[in-house]
Order: sequence, then structure tokens, then C-alpha cells
Amino acid sequence: MARHFLSLYLLIVLTLGAVSWGQDKLWQAHGGQGPADDKRLVVALFAVDNQLHNVPTEQWKPLIARLAAKAGVGLELFATADIVGRETLDKLKHGEVAYMQTGSATESWALKQLNEDYVLALKSAEPDAQRGLLDWTLTLLFYAAIALMIMIWIWPLTRDLRTLENAAARFGRRNWVFEAGIKPRSQIYALAETFRKMAARIDGLIASHKDMSNAVSHEIKTPLSRMQFEIELAQQAQTVADVRKSLSHIKTDIAAIDDLVKATMGYAILERADMSLNIGTHNFTTLIPAIAEYVRRNARPEVRMRAAVQSGADKVVCDMHLLETVLKNLLFNAARYAKRDIRVSFNVHDGVNYLFVDDDGPGIPEKDRNRALESFVQLEQSSSKKTGFGLGLAIVKRAIEWHSGEVVISRSPLGGARIAASWPAILPGQPVPAHK
Ligand SMILES: Nc1ncnc2c1ncn2[C@@H]1O[C@H](COP(=O)(O)OP(=O)(O)OP(=O)(O)O)[C@@H](O)[C@H]1O
Ligand SMILES: [Mg+2]
Repeated sequence: MARHFLSLYLLIVLTLGAVSWGQDKLWQAHGGQGPADDKRLVVALFAVDNQLHNVPTEQWKPLIARLAAKAGVGLELFATADIVGRETLDKLKHGEVAYMQTGSATESWALKQLNEDYVLALKSAEPDAQRGLLDWTLTLLFYAAIALMIMIWIWPLTRDLRTLENAAARFGRRNWVFEAGIKPRSQIYALAETFRKMAARIDGLIASHKDMSNAVSHEIKTPLSRMQFEIELAQQAQTVADVRKSLSHIKTDIAAIDDLVKATMGYAILERADMSLNIGTHNFTTLIPAIAEYVRRNARPEVRMRAAVQSGADKVVCDMHLLETVLKNLLFNAARYAKRDIRVSFNVHDGVNYLFVDDDGPGIPEKDRNRALESFVQLEQSSSKKTGFGLGLAIVKRAIEWHSGEVVISRSPLGGARIAASWPAILPGQPVPAHK
């Protein structure tokens, strides 16, 4: 960790240093023959030039030496023959001020031609060329400070990423519990949340697979041992009628296993990560009463079913196959537990679809409400009356979750259980339903 931090820090310092050095070089190569914008040099050169023209040529040298000594500047008289560089010579010929660096490139001169033989040269200050150790140290400190600021900003990010990495590693090694403890104000909070949800989903999948294999083996064991017993009976049977009787029992047990396989498969499909929905718009004002009527016909005769669907609920966005499964599971449960009255209602409120199934039966105790939504959970254990496998509500929950919604169990105004399923009226990623 510290090594990574240090290497990143050095990288930033070096990059900043390299960029600044490169910028300097570029400026020297393209922008500056010399301090081209230094008008003062030009003025000085023209002033000296003017003064020299009133003096005979042979007095130029001593006069220039005197001037240089007096002003404390590098003022010299060069022979035109000593000036190199075509461009420089051209400029001088046209009476312009030109710039030249001496061989060591540490000095820069501003030049002005006086006559054919002589050129007046004024030394310009070259801060870069004389950059001292202090200067370099200060520059380095400046960049080091910038790099430090960047690192202070990056530090919590690096720390949180490491925490997340550790949590992910622990998740794999240990009992599928993901605990990273990344604070909401962290830059990677959203990432950690995605991880947490993914981990919870994996955890849920593992748990449900465990439940499923436990339940399946348990549910299969009873009919299997009954079948074994019936086969033995058939083997010892004296009459054809006895054999037929055993065969008929075996057939019932096979049907029970078949039901279990079908129910389990139906649930397993909903547990798959790659399930795709067949989303469409459906007219609930006719569909819900039709399904309610179908369930009523298959229920005890005293059961009364009422369907209250908000008028205008004719373009409800959902996967109808899944929603039909949801409705049938909820209504068959209600029909099993209701004394008499069942009410199914649907309405849309604030962009959310609400489906309620109410009954006047015993209801589901508060402590069991979450558990009842899990797979293979049946609350009353009287095995003599046992029907189903405890998959209905788990299927309902999963199907609604596929619609980005949720299922909540509460007490119904009718006195029994209320199962409320809600999901967004416009599903994320789905086109807004077209109004016909
Ligand atoms: N309307 C209801 N009133 C009272 N209890 C209910 C109601 N609906 C469900 N339950 C309880 O919740 C349990 C789970 O219901 P679920 O629909 O998941 O399974 P099941 O109906 O027993 O079997 P399956 O649906 O697989 O045929 C039921 O066993 C029952 O105890
Ligand atoms: Mg059920």
C-alpha cells in the first residue's frame, strides 16, 4: 500500500517536473531567440546607436567601454564578421534588433548594426541560464506540494478501494457475508453498494439452493418409500384387484413427485440470473376479473370473490404470464384460508401499480410474514392436510422482484391476510407504453 502510494507520488512529481522542463525547452526553441518582448533593450540599443553617430568611428570602442562601466551592463562592440547565422545577419542588415546566444548558450545578446563593420551588442538578463540551486529547489518544492495535494485527495479513495478488496476477498473465503463498512460520503460508496447487493443476491441464491435441495429430497423421500411399500405389497398380492390397487397408489405418488418437480422448476426459472421478461401492456380491467372467476370456480362453494380494478387500468406494464402466476398463487392461497370473502383490487397511484389480495381467514402472524415469503416454507405443519410445497409466495415475491417491485404481507381490513404487490408503472429500461 505504502509502496503504491509512494510510486504514484513520485510519478506525479516527475511528470510535473518533466512537463515544466519540456515547456521551458519548447519556449527556448520556438518562442525565444532572446527576450524578444523586452522593449527596453531595443530602446537602449537605439539610444547608444544615436549617440555613436555623432562620434568618429575610432572613438566608438573607448566610448562604449565607458558607457558599459558606468551603467554596469554588458555593452560591447562586435565585428560584423563575428556574427553568425543567416537569419540574424538578415535582420541586422534591415536595421532591426536581432538576438544571439554565445557558444555556451548561457548568455544572450541583443544586436544592432552600426555600420558595415560593427555591430553594437547589449547583454540581456537570462534568468533561466543562470538558474541557481535555490531556484531549482523552490520549483521542485512547488511541484511536490501540488503532488501532495493530489495525493491527499486520492488517499481516501485508495484506502476505501483496499477495504473493498479485503471485504470481497473475505466474502469469497468465509461464510458469504459481505461487510465492507464504506461510508456514504466515500467516492466509491456506489460501487460498494453494488457489490453489497451482488453479494446479497449470491448469498440468497446459495441459501435458496440449499433450501431447494433439502426440501426436494425431503419431499421426494415420502412418496418414494410409499412406492417401495406398494411394490412389496403388489409382489405379495394374491389377486389382480390388489395389484391394481397398489399400482393406483404408486400412480398417485408419481403424480406427487411430478407436481414437486414442476413447482420446483417453475421457481428455479425465476431464480435464474438470466431470466428475460416478456413485458407488454395489458388490460387489467378484464384480466383480473377473469382470473378471479377461474379461481372461484375451483374453490369451495361458499367462497365469495370480489374484484375491484381501477377504471382505466387497461395498459398495465407487466409480464402477463408472471402476473397470472402471481394472481393465481395469491387467490388460491386466499381461497384455501378465507372463511368466505376474498377481494382482489388493483390501482395505480403516483406511478406505482398496486395489487392487493385480501381475505377474511386467520391471517399470517406478524412474526411469520417474512418467512412465509421464502421458498419451501409452510406455516402450519399438520402434515395430514398438507397440500403444496410452500413455493407459492416465494414465486410471487420473485416474480414481482423481476418487475422491480416488492411484496408485503399485512393484516387485511377483511380480518385475514393482505398480500400487497407493487411495482413501478413504467419499468426501468422499458419503453413508455404507447397510448392507442
Ligand atoms: N391467505 C393466507 N392466509 C393465511 N395463511 C397464508 C395465506 N397465504 C399463505 N399462507 C401461509 O403461508 C404459507 C406459504 O404459502 P405458499 O403459498 O408459499 O405455500 P403453500 O400455499 O403452502 O404451497 P404452494 O403455494 O407451493 O402450493 C402457507 O403454507 C400458509 O401457512
Ligand atoms: Mg400457495
